[in-house]
Amino acid sequence: MQSQSTEVRSLFDRIAPVYDDLNNTLSLGQHKAWKLMAVKWAEPQKGDRALDICCGSGDVAAQLSDRVGPDGTVIGLDFAEEMLDFAWQRNLNKSNIQWIPGDALALPLPDDHIDCITMSYGLRNVVDIPKAFQEMHRVLKPGKKAAILDMHRPENPLIRRFQQWYLDNQVVPAAARLGFVEEYAYIAPSLDRFPTGPEQVKLALNAGFAKATHYPIAGGTMGVLVLTKPST
Ligand SMILES: C[S@@+](CC[C@H](N)C(=O)[O-])C[C@H]1O[C@@H](n2cnc3c(N)ncnc32)[C@H](O)[C@@H]1O
Repeated sequence: MQSQSTEVRSLFDRIAPVYDDLNNTLSLGQHKAWKLMAVKWAEPQKGDRALDICCGSGDVAAQLSDRVGPDGTVIGLDFAEEMLDFAWQRNLNKSNIQWIPGDALALPLPDDHIDCITMSYGLRNVVDIPKAFQEMHRVLKPGKKAAILDMHRPENPLIRRFQQWYLDNQVVPAAARLGFVEEYAYIAPSLDRFPTGPEQVKLALNAGFAKATHYPIAGGTMGVLVLTKPST
């Protein structure tokens, strides 16, 4: 698992310079709206200590920063330091964000420490999903929420066919033009391996969450999993 993790980290270090532009082009800017939904469902409040796991270039952490305000703090955590560097450079005006290098599977944070968690397009990339849920559960304060956004295989066969066509004919060629074929060809197999919404709900409940609900969005091509830690 360690070597798989090292591969994932070096993949994201390599694509860091093109990541934002490709994301914007390929989702026609839609990813920002989906991220906003996840942020809202994590229920950040003014003055909170929020955590964005797998923060990448930092746009979800930036949205959290506005929500928690100057009396709050946001921790943006990622293990790809090139990504974190972009996040830091893009958000120099957001003084309430701390950018921390770290592993989602061994969060460098105490128990019961965080008021809300977001994770956007990170869960599909971690090499041990049950462990990622356990770590979120450990660091969240009792009664607080995590919201996890990711891509999914839609159930509708027509939409599913369209998604595969889009990956093969738009995403991979666009990445190839920038010299990143393999790095983007991994998306389709990662979707095939990714637990479905209901499977994620079971894994999260096994990790100790009191409530877990998966909301399919964008025709089931995306989904947000909302988790609540028990109050006591
Ligand atoms: C697809 S990017 C998503 C970035 C950003 N959250 C977004 O929505 O645009 C996935 C990120 O997860 C990070 N990542 C994957 N596994 C990780 C782990 N075990 N610990 C920390 N970061 C991880 C990668 O380095 C990468 O920056």
